Amino acid sequence: MSRGEKPKGRNTGRSISASGGRRRKSVLVRGGGRPQSSIRWLQRQLNDPYVLAAKENGYRSRAAFKLIELDDKFKIFASGNTVVDLGAAPGGWSQIASQKVGRRGNVIGVDTQFIDPIGSVTFLQLDVSDAKTIDKIMDIQKRPADVVLSDMAARSTGHASTDHLRVITLAEAAAEIATQILAPGGIFVTKVFKGGTESSLLHELKSQFDRVKHAKPPSSRSGSAEEYVVAKGFRQPRH
Ligand SMILES: C[S@@+](CC[C@H](N)C(=O)[O-])C[C@H]1O[C@@H](n2cnc3c(N)ncnc32)[C@H](O)[C@@H]1O
Repeated sequence: MSRGEKPKGRNTGRSISASGGRRRKSVLVRGGGRPQSSIRWLQRQLNDPYVLAAKENGYRSRAAFKLIELDDKFKIFASGNTVVDLGAAPGGWSQIASQKVGRRGNVIGVDTQFIDPIGSVTFLQLDVSDAKTIDKIMDIQKRPADVVLSDMAARSTGHASTDHLRVITLAEAAAEIATQILAPGGIFVTKVFKGGTESSLLHELKSQFDRVKHAKPPSSRSGSAEEYVVAKGFRQPRH
């Protein structure tokens, strides 16, 4: 869905109810030789109201609702903003950011994976851990960013503490980029995992932003350790 396009369904960018109403539960009758874990994953997808609502609204990911809910709570976007979306594939967050900033705004999405084009969003297929990535973002940024988003996550290893560490490493890389490209007063949103390892990141953010809050949007699965940190009021370091 491109900028200016209206969502196909009834939802126009606000939170949805996850109750699922009176929908009948889908059950996979035959596994077709699939392993149990992928059958469980498919069953969860088929019965997830956010997956269905994302499809109905033309959003590329159910994660789009997490950003809608974070924006409802923290008022992240304003019309005309410049937004950098790190870990943007398949593009759900970039779709929402693009709608929120409107025609005068500017959205840049970055991911190691290729992303199918979305309206006026500029995509860079880059790895945030590559030192040259920040220069490439700055090259195409017309002005300092108002908002830097990171929903980055590495593929799960199934080992909780390893996964936590990898998400925090990505969040730290995102914070490093954010503090170099944000305008004073800017906003940084990043995915973290509950588990304590993020305390040094939090300490850093608290020294660079006026307000730092944690949030678990309703659409974030309750069984997941995932949550988000929203840091507002970036204070540019004195040189
Ligand atoms: C949960 S998905 C993001 C979903 C996205 N917010 C959306 O709404 O469509 C996490 C993304 O982080 C990306 N990612 C992981 N490590 C990265 C890295 N080092 N540099 C850039 N992107 C990365 C993955 O490729 C993946 O597409």
